[in-house]
Amino acid sequence: MADTLHHAKSVVGFAITQPLSFVYILIQNVLNWIFAPVPPPPTDKLRRPRIAVIGAGLTGVSSAAHCVGHGFDVKIFETRSREKGLGGIWSRVNSTSALQIHSIMFRFHPSVKWDTAYPQQQDIKKQIASVWKTYGLDKKTVFETPVTSIKKNASSGRWVINDNEQEHGSFDGIIAAVGSCGDPQMPRLPDHDKFNGPTYHSSELDGKDVEGKKILIIGGGASAVEALEFAVQNHAAEIDVLSRSDKWIIPRNVFVDVLLSLNVFGGETSFSWIPEWLLRKFFYRDLEDISPAKKGLYTDTPMVNSELFDQIRAGKARWLRGDIVNVQNEGIMFNHRAQGVPKGGPGHESLVRGDVIIMATGYKRPSLAFLPDNVFEKGYEPPNWYLQVFPPQDPTICATNSTYVNAIGTVGNYHIGIYTRFLLMFLVDPLSRPRESLMKLWIGFTRTLKKFAPTKAFDFFTYAELIYWYCFVSIINPFRWKWVPFIFFGLFRGLPLAIVEEEDHIRGLNGKAK
Ligand SMILES: Cc1cc2nc3c(=O)[nH]c(=O)nc-3n(C[C@H](O)[C@H](O)[C@H](O)COP(=O)(O)OP(=O)(O)OC[C@H]3O[C@@H](n4cnc5c(N)ncnc54)[C@H](O)[C@@H]3O)c2cc1C
Ligand SMILES: NC(=O)c1ccc[n+]([C@@H]2O[C@H](COP(=O)([O-])OP(=O)(O)OC[C@H]3O[C@@H](n4cnc5c(N)ncnc54)[C@H](OP(=O)(O)O)[C@@H]3O)[C@@H](O)[C@H]2O)c1
Repeated sequence: MADTLHHAKSVVGFAITQPLSFVYILIQNVLNWIFAPVPPPPTDKLRRPRIAVIGAGLTGVSSAAHCVGHGFDVKIFETRSREKGLGGIWSRVNSTSALQIHSIMFRFHPSVKWDTAYPQQQDIKKQIASVWKTYGLDKKTVFETPVTSIKKNASSGRWVINDNEQEHGSFDGIIAAVGSCGDPQMPRLPDHDKFNGPTYHSSELDGKDVEGKKILIIGGGASAVEALEFAVQNHAAEIDVLSRSDKWIIPRNVFVDVLLSLNVFGGETSFSWIPEWLLRKFFYRDLEDISPAKKGLYTDTPMVNSELFDQIRAGKARWLRGDIVNVQNEGIMFNHRAQGVPKGGPGHESLVRGDVIIMATGYKRPSLAFLPDNVFEKGYEPPNWYLQVFPPQDPTICATNSTYVNAIGTVGNYHIGIYTRFLLMFLVDPLSRPRESLMKLWIGFTRTLKKFAPTKAFDFFTYAELIYWYCFVSIINPFRWKWVPFIFFGLFRGLPLAIVEEEDHIRGLNGKAK
């Protein structure tokens, strides 16, 4: 009784002192209560379809949690150890790495509960591990097991991983959740060996001493911004970012970010100049020169940051556009280019001095080569797949967040559950499953709709376009209508399952999906 009273008092105290955080946590508890599938009891025997999930990052863990929460069995295969693999890329970056988008856009599973707007690496890892544990996935994960092949057993028609049916069993569906950021990419710069100081990758900055030093950051993406913030926080003397191509930067403001992702055409339109003009005038302001001159906002994933410009204005860092000529003992010979001059174009050279080089040059893309050869058919290779993730040759494979190139949206969000439920629907309800010719028709249709976009149809999309895709393919096939509450919200799966059994019965399949 005394404990309950004490707890109630502390909740009221929290609500009064931090009302916004209180409301945020309350909303997340409500979302969890309505939308998170109930974890199966430890003794519960899960049924088929059985799904192989490849990758234990947030996409793999969330997808697997959705499957078991709806009563279907899974096995997760992760190439790395538990320490480096569980949590995916978030287990391999700096402890100071943080979300640049608001965490409300990064609720990768309905049970996730953020207590801050911009959580850091440890919080993100913790949430991934918590979903993994809550849904009993610890007993269903094999670490240090890279998937190198998936093949169909000719007699059962089920998927076999790494030719090892004896150990792993067989599977009805595959979720390839290998992500888009693999090992660090560390290109050698011309004459790199001549440099007097150390060179680090931007993901390996924990414990590195930069105090009082001149820092040269190579690259102009989100990791360059993070490296810049790390250098500022650790009292570097001077910071120069050497960027060879321009990217749009948008404010760290949840309303602006959501608004920009609401472009349902998923590409440049004749109205794109409006947000671009507004960003230049009201966000870049005196730093308009850094904005891309010839690249539309809806062509490339923008960086989300509001502090970068303040650091530049305060003289703590410089953002230089141009090409690296070579590395010298004391720095980098750099060809500075003016706004709008393309990579490798004319400029003026000068030596940018530095003591430490940070390579913010990105990550190698994990391979999907373990998938069967036929899913890489010319013209229908990833990302040119049905809903971008289902190869038209076989919709029992779903490569969530692994075919993604560029977008305005978020990787760790609601769509992970939607894709998983589409896959489950295709597996349990044969009448809802798309045929290869129709999937290719949808891909062709989307290409035609986006033929004026500067990027290829599936190389850039927005979150609003993704939602439109889901609505379109749900409405187009009447056998999917009964699944709509399940696909979009994970609710009421009992009803469509009962109808499917009835349909199978009528079709003489005795309740067995064929
Ligand atoms: C520093 C940083 C910050 C980021 N911030 C944001 C952000 O704010 N917002 C946002 O939307 N995105 C952000 N991202 C993008 C990030 O990729 C996603 O947030 C998300 O972590 C992707 O999760 P994932 O599970 O899809 O992939 P990953 O986390 O990369 O996990 C994939 C897993 O698959 C495993 N794997 C790969 N191949 C195989 C194989 N053949 N067999 C078995 N296992 C395999 C890998 O070992 C890995 O553990 C950020 C990325 C970085 C690097
Ligand atoms: N907190 C966050 O939200 C956050 C933080 C970090 C990363 N991320 C995400 O992680 C992913 C990777 O981001 P990233 O910034 O690491 O990589 P990135 O977006 O691929 O950017 C790499 C940068 O390095 C440049 N580069 C590559 N090789 C080079 C070379 N040899 N010489 C000079 N420049 C070179 C690239 O230029 P070109 O473009 O010309 O090739 C590019 O500017 C993205 O999806 C990003 O959104 C997010």
